Amino acid sequence: MSSTSSSGSLFCRLASIVAIACFVSLSTMFFYTSPMISRPPPLPAPKHYLERTYTNLSNSSLNAKEEKPVLLLWVWPQDYHFDLSDCKTIYNIDGCHLTDDRSLYSNTDAVLIFHRAISQDLSTLPPSPRPSFQKWIWMNVESPTNTQKIPGIENLFNLTLSYREDSDIPVRLRLTSRKIPDEDFEIPKKERLICWVVSNNLDWTGVGTRNAYFHELSKHVYVHVYGKAYGSFLDYKDYYPTIASCKFYLSFENSIHKDYITEKLNGPLAVGTVPVVLGPPRKNYERFIPGDSFIHVNDFPDPKSLAEYLKGLDVDDEAYRRYFNWRRHFSARPHLILQNQEFVLAICTACDYVGRHKEYKQAHNIYEWFFN
Ligand SMILES: *[C@@H]1O[C@H](CO)[C@@H](O)[C@H](O)[C@H]1NC(C)=O
Ligand SMILES: *[C@@H]1O[C@H](CO)[C@@H](O)[C@H](O)[C@H]1NC(C)=O
Ligand SMILES: *[C@@H]1O[C@H](CO)[C@@H](O)[C@H](O)[C@H]1NC(C)=O
Repeated sequence: MSSTSSSGSLFCRLASIVAIACFVSLSTMFFYTSPMISRPPPLPAPKHYLERTYTNLSNSSLNAKEEKPVLLLWVWPQDYHFDLSDCKTIYNIDGCHLTDDRSLYSNTDAVLIFHRAISQDLSTLPPSPRPSFQKWIWMNVESPTNTQKIPGIENLFNLTLSYREDSDIPVRLRLTSRKIPDEDFEIPKKERLICWVVSNNLDWTGVGTRNAYFHELSKHVYVHVYGKAYGSFLDYKDYYPTIASCKFYLSFENSIHKDYITEKLNGPLAVGTVPVVLGPPRKNYERFIPGDSFIHVNDFPDPKSLAEYLKGLDVDDEAYRRYFNWRRHFSARPHLILQNQEFVLAICTACDYVGRHKEYKQAHNIYEWFFN
């Protein structure tokens, strides 16, 4: 009981983070056709190009403002609106001028296009021809299982944004390293052995594997299940406290694909709970988090042996505590959990990328890359 207050203060910290979040060559292909032509054809001269050229260079604050590339959010993914200044407030990302104002289209350096909002007849895409300096970003945070192929867009984009590490713009909340080891971490007070929050249980989304595993596992050990899919909706404010109150959390992905490791893993890491993962192979996880920070279902021949192992850890505090050693050197931060915040990280990551990269780029055959 004595650890109630310390876990309480952990929650205050988490809650305040979440609360902040809530408010929170011109290829001068110049064919010399006639000696009459004595100068090259005019450069494409979008408004900002001229401004940049003729701005008084000694006024650096003005220049800094204008040279920020414009990133246009073509549609709000799933209509989840948030305050565009959240990128700065939450992630300290300020490298672009992020806007949803389509009237800026002709002056826009990059356009972020949400895959699911592209209609089959492509009429929901931005107008052509696009300005020569403009890059289109293909934004898709779903796995291939949950991505519908829309013919005709394979060669339209310049940049890809997805969970895949080999995207131009990979999106992921990552652990960060500490220079000074944290010796003060206390495991939050535990009231339950295994928990699972699951909101989607639709068959077509590929959840068959995880459901079968869960079904078998729950024959051998009790799992506290929360979430829409099981009729016990967990309020947002209870999400982190609930996960923290469990020794283990089932970080089961809906479908299994390389690098498809989502916030389901981040939740337990952020609050001090051991994730039990089902997804791509262990080696893939170890690309992102230390090998001793999680339990992989593939480490066991069957759900029954996993259940026995977890029950064993329940009565062996020392062995359990070893799953937290990594925290001395690395830290995880909570992800945003409100529904309208689902795409904040992806959109802000795009903004950050656009602010740093001006290079010419084409993304060819995005389906061949994404689906194979
Ligand atoms: C440019 O800015 C400097 C300093 O602010 C000023 O002295 C100068 O007159 C400006 N030049 C023009 C052409 O506006
Ligand atoms: C720089 O530009 C800003 C915005 O137009 C203006 O308010 C400021 O007075 C300028 N500073 C100088 C030194 O010219
Ligand atoms: C973006 O990609 C398109 C299509 O591949 C290409 O025509 C265009 O030149 C590219 N633009 C930039 C700025 O990279």
